[in-house]
Amino acid sequence: MSLSDMSSEMSLGDLRADFPVFADGDPERPLAYLDSAASSQMPRQVIEAMVNFQSHSYANIHRGLYRLSGASTAAYDSARQTVASFIGASDRNEVIFTSGATASLNFLAYSWGEKNIQAGDEIALPLSEHHANLVPWQQLALRKGAKLRWIELTPEGTIDWASLQEALSHRPKLLTFAWVSNVFGTVHPVAKIAKLAHEAGATVVLDGSQGVPHLECDVQRLGVDFLAFSGHKMLGPTGIGVLWGRMSCLEELPPFLYGGDMISIVKRERSSWAEIPNRFEAGTPNITGAVGLSAACAYLSRIGFADIRSHDLMLMEYAIRRLEEAGATVLGPKDLQQRSGVLSFRYKKLHPHDIATILGRDEVCVRAGHHCCQPLMREIGMTGTTRASFYVYNTRADIDRLAESLAKVGDIFHIAPCPCTKIGHKPAPLASDAAPCTQEESCGECSCKLLNQSH
Ligand SMILES: Cc1ncc(COP(=O)(O)O)c(C=O)c1O
Repeated sequence: MSLSDMSSEMSLGDLRADFPVFADGDPERPLAYLDSAASSQMPRQVIEAMVNFQSHSYANIHRGLYRLSGASTAAYDSARQTVASFIGASDRNEVIFTSGATASLNFLAYSWGEKNIQAGDEIALPLSEHHANLVPWQQLALRKGAKLRWIELTPEGTIDWASLQEALSHRPKLLTFAWVSNVFGTVHPVAKIAKLAHEAGATVVLDGSQGVPHLECDVQRLGVDFLAFSGHKMLGPTGIGVLWGRMSCLEELPPFLYGGDMISIVKRERSSWAEIPNRFEAGTPNITGAVGLSAACAYLSRIGFADIRSHDLMLMEYAIRRLEEAGATVLGPKDLQQRSGVLSFRYKKLHPHDIATILGRDEVCVRAGHHCCQPLMREIGMTGTTRASFYVYNTRADIDRLAESLAKVGDIFHIAPCPCTKIGHKPAPLASDAAPCTQEESCGECSCKLLNQSH
């Protein structure tokens, strides 16, 4: 199974055949699933791993003194090892299973935050953070009388370097940011940012929700202190995710959730804690989910991240071209190398929900709205965007379907192509302040009013 030869329909066909969902539906109108940044589809290898486990090895872990519980515990421990190897962790005990990235980040905001943040401290983060990596820190800051220090973005959606340095000059206790923006698709240079942050004395938290599924993850090279991600965006099931922490950092953390399986000795007045990672996994965990996530890691590793990356870039380049030809305005970095599998766009002045609804009728699945990034949307003057996101099973044909369906949206709303596109003008990304076109058949997006005066 390899994606390296993208002209080979055979290898791509083999891969798609692993995903039962693509065998469903109308062959005349096959599913164009372009919403993997929300949740990816699952291959049968992941589904079967969970069904097998659930059918033959399932019991509660750790406490049972019988064969099935031993088998279940072994499967759970083995899943932890697979995930640890997948992200380059030196010790499998650095992998804490959670219910997802949101849970991992909330865990940190409570456990790390309550211990380390005092009144007047600063927490630095870019304006583009997903609410999951914003609201927990905002609430921590409110509880503690601390301050959020915002890092600005360039119009292309990359981190504004001067703003980052300014934020770090205030010596924040914490810098937290997403590896890949779920709106712009920007891949942030994690190691470089982490090094600067450490020099400024900050602990570094990385939201890997959109990065881990697409980019080779080696926590040693990334150089961060904590990493959070979810299984359901990387071919795994929902309800399982990871908090990875450098062991020296984890050892400093108090537990966040208390109860069974996380204790060592419980007395009437006091308790002591189990070793890491159990200390941070109170109660019965999502054992089947961990097995599924482990199978997803194995599946992605078999493809290989070099091939996953080139597949993403091939699709991205094609999608940008097709969408711009269709008259859409694509957001995010122009440099392909700074992008991962997320592509937000605007189409004329139409509301993203109108666009996504019409595309949905054609079985073209995209996401519309603020993408859990309201402060960012406010900053760039938009209520939302339409977002297509790609993964290993997508093909150019899916993008053709997107472009064709988008043309139908234009027809439904009686939008003719903007004359300015005929003269090769491409509306600037993020040009929310651009003057509207005065042509009768305007794209409504660009500054061709100004251009028209000169031609
Ligand atoms: C960048 C980013 N961070 C965090 C999350 C939250 O992930 P989950 O809902 O799996 O906890 C998402 C989900 O879309 C995301 O895109």
